[in-house]
Amino acid sequence: MNQYIIKGGKSLAGEVTIGGAKNAALGILAGAIMTDDEVTIENLPDVSDINALLEAIKAIGAKVDRIDAHTVKISGASIHSTVVDYDYIQKIRASYYLLGALLGKYGKASVAMPGGCKIGSRPIDQHIKGFKALGAKVVTENSMINASVNNLRGSHIFLDMVSVGATINIMLAAVMAQGQTIIENVAKEPHIVDVANFLNSMGANIKGAGTDVIRIRGVERLHGSTYSCIPDQIEAGTFMCLATATKGDITLKNVIPKHLEAITAKLVEIGADIIENDDSVRVVCKDRPGSAIVKTRVYPGFPTDMQPQITVVLATADGVSTINENIWEDRFKYVAELRKMGAVITVEGSTAFVEGQPKLSPAVMEAPDLRAGAALTIAALQADGVSILTDIEYIERGYEKFDEKLRSLGAEIMKVDSEDYKAVQKFKLEIV
Ligand code: EPZ
Repeated sequence: MNQYIIKGGKSLAGEVTIGGAKNAALGILAGAIMTDDEVTIENLPDVSDINALLEAIKAIGAKVDRIDAHTVKISGASIHSTVVDYDYIQKIRASYYLLGALLGKYGKASVAMPGGCKIGSRPIDQHIKGFKALGAKVVTENSMINASVNNLRGSHIFLDMVSVGATINIMLAAVMAQGQTIIENVAKEPHIVDVANFLNSMGANIKGAGTDVIRIRGVERLHGSTYSCIPDQIEAGTFMCLATATKGDITLKNVIPKHLEAITAKLVEIGADIIENDDSVRVVCKDRPGSAIVKTRVYPGFPTDMQPQITVVLATADGVSTINENIWEDRFKYVAELRKMGAVITVEGSTAFVEGQPKLSPAVMEAPDLRAGAALTIAALQADGVSILTDIEYIERGYEKFDEKLRSLGAEIMKVDSEDYKAVQKFKLEIV
């Protein structure tokens, strides 16, 4: 197990390049196995969630050729199994995209039932409802979801709630179904549009991605393609919060400013200066941020995946802030860790009330999940003194070379083996 040792208190400044969007890449990689031709995916983030999905794809027989850290060639021609092992679902929930992809290509798929995660119960009833509407028989047996069908038929599906995963999974299953599929009340996140664009680049006929209704005309087959993933909106937002929390000056390169609008608007509201260019954004914050009301919503609202990071910024704001979480019922676990740093936060149901403090103080903390882990790193970088953050494997699921990127901005942060006390001591001596 690794941990970060962080000496905070510095304003961070410089340039950072944002990687490809993890949550788009997960859908795209699943889609890539739906043709027997070769598919090349570029701007792939080199993070453990992506690497776990690539392993799962390899395990069912696809050829996976890693050209470099950010490029992979996939060929689905050699797939010999439509069963995705429990191990992969355990490693990464998004393995369930292989359900839609394999069902769409071969008419059958078996994937282990994804368990709950630390941010709330995560049902997949809407995915299953979509597959059934397309004519598939879906049976859950011995913790496996088994879906099968002779021929998928287009259908009219109305999702009961807006779900990123269900939208992508049903889209995957429907691209080669006979006739037209209309999916209403779909998610509109940039990664939905990216997966649709990718499938269209393979010959699919998907219209309306990015709106509330997606229309898909089934095609006979998909063909090979070379496609580059969009930049990660959440990685970008995390560095924007970092600049604001440390009163820094950070320029983010390789971003799509339009995708960041909700985050930009909130940071401007609390006092950051944000300068947008075509594919870069500069965030400058010189004064203590002001308080705010934040409500997480589906896109284009404020993303739930940015909720812990903005809460950390508001923990040192001038005034009382309210953060209302509307997507996941259990996404405030990290608040207990933040309180160790002197943050004054009370949580009532889905709302956190944050009484901003002039400064947080260093502490020893545990990362409870991916985004909360990144948020606690920001908190530690803001606090004067040495903090320790354990369980950083969560962070590595979705942030590539996070510590390296932070160091390039002037942060004093080191990744060490939790058992390696000498390294911990050495780092402390070096920085004190
Ligand atoms: C995706 O999860 C992301 N993960 C999450 O990011 C993100 O928090 C979430 O979308 C919301 O934006 C990936 O893309 C791999 P949902 P997903 O289906 O697809 C309920 C991160 O940090 N629901 O949009 O699982 C569900 O319980 C991760 O990168 C049902 O009730 O989320 C939740 O309350 C964490 N039935 C809401 O809908 C269903 O069948 C939204 O979930 C599906 C969802």
